[in-house]
Amino acid sequence: MSDQSVNIKFYNGKNIPLELHKVRVVQKLNLVPIERRLEALKEGGFNTFQLTTLDVFLDMLTDSGTNAMSDNQIAAMMRADDAYAGSQSFIRLQKAVQDVLGKKYLLPVHQGRAAENILSKAYVKKGSLVPMNYHFTTALAHITENGGSIAELLYPEAYKIDSVCPFKGNMNIEKLEETIKQVGVEKIPYIRMEASTNLIGGQPFSVQNLRDVRAIATKYGIKLVLDASLLGENAYLVKQREEEFKNKSMAEILLTMTDLADIVYFSARKLSSSRGGGICTNNEAFSRELEPLVPLFEGFLTYGGISVREVEAMAVGLYETLDETMICQSPEFIKYLVYAAKENGVPMITPPGVLGAHVDAMQFCSHIPQTQYPAGALAAAFFLISGVRGMERGSVSNQRDENGNETYADMELLRLAVPRRVFTLSQVMYVVDRLSWLYKNRELIGGLKFTYEPPVLRFFMGKLTPVSDWPEKLIAKFKEDFGDSL
Ligand code: F0G
Repeated sequence: MSDQSVNIKFYNGKNIPLELHKVRVVQKLNLVPIERRLEALKEGGFNTFQLTTLDVFLDMLTDSGTNAMSDNQIAAMMRADDAYAGSQSFIRLQKAVQDVLGKKYLLPVHQGRAAENILSKAYVKKGSLVPMNYHFTTALAHITENGGSIAELLYPEAYKIDSVCPFKGNMNIEKLEETIKQVGVEKIPYIRMEASTNLIGGQPFSVQNLRDVRAIATKYGIKLVLDASLLGENAYLVKQREEEFKNKSMAEILLTMTDLADIVYFSARKLSSSRGGGICTNNEAFSRELEPLVPLFEGFLTYGGISVREVEAMAVGLYETLDETMICQSPEFIKYLVYAAKENGVPMITPPGVLGAHVDAMQFCSHIPQTQYPAGALAAAFFLISGVRGMERGSVSNQRDENGNETYADMELLRLAVPRRVFTLSQVMYVVDRLSWLYKNRELIGGLKFTYEPPVLRFFMGKLTPVSDWPEKLIAKFKEDFGDSL
């Protein structure tokens, strides 16, 4: 795998994230007029999940299943060995998992949350508590679905928007031990560590922190489960930010991290720029415990509910995770976006993380109370004035408690995902431009209220409506400043 340096200096001294790939297949984009964008928002209940891509210019909803695939991934899909059982494609995937993640037993699943379903079904019972650095929506939903609850154990610095802390995703070790002592080992089925902690802005943990978590897990005889969906980028930031690893290869860093976990699971939609997912371990007994759930919920053990073409793409994608010139692309574009927006005063999460740039809606829309979903309102307003689709990662993405009360999110974020090798730098500059304009005109953004609220994962299907005619006022100001420009 290439060890080519990603640090290429420009003569003008500027720090510009140079693309280390060429574009050979393209897809046309639409930038529809602002009036149509308002119609689209109304049709979709002011929920960006409900927009269709015909109305979307830059799709920054997620990196899940939207990372660009490489020529080698597409080529591998052609040699897929279609077989219900014993496919050679699966054997190649097993080898990739062994080589890249260092785990012998692999259970394939159709995506990350399927792994969470299986792990929760197997290990979580009524009254269980799963300590973790921070929840991800689907991980939490599966744990609660099985009667369990969670304890989120980050350090206070993790919740600071503007920070220089390199590892905001670190688990609070003292609190972890305290929690175990308080709750009792028998109630804790496993400890969950999430690489590049998604919901606090794609923030990594350090290898040292993972070692410390491992030591506690070993001391109390509790399993350590690693959510590796964003492990490649976490490893890249370890290389950048953790002294001990600055001269280590991506391969060495990844193996160091996975070696510390008893069970590793991942969404391949993210980790390997493909589809699918997996659960892997070196513990035969764990594999045996989980195995029966795969044919029940996913598919046979050598395809796990996805096409064997995707199994091939996953295998190649896992190896490509080791290529620094590939894995750096999204975090470096994110860094560019974050600092350019910050220069114009836009409140952004720092240090820049992975997956996307994160805008602090609590500051951006400080005039909108949390009861009116500032992050949801900002996501809608930003789509309206730019055609860029981001994702609400705030209270709309939270679930109500067992008594039906709102649980307001610790952070109200607009996430602008930067899938790998999909956007160009001028498109990122457009995002910065429109975001900066919106920030200047932020007082015009108003709140939202639910008109339809599903009971589980409400952010996917929920419908909302503006509390006033603020979208029309925002359009009027846009026209004043941009005239006929789209
Ligand atoms: N774990 C993490 C850390 C994730 O970010 C995701 C998905 C999952 C698990 C679930 O995987 O989608 O394949 O079922 N994150 C996507 C996102 C949805 O947009 O951040 P999945």
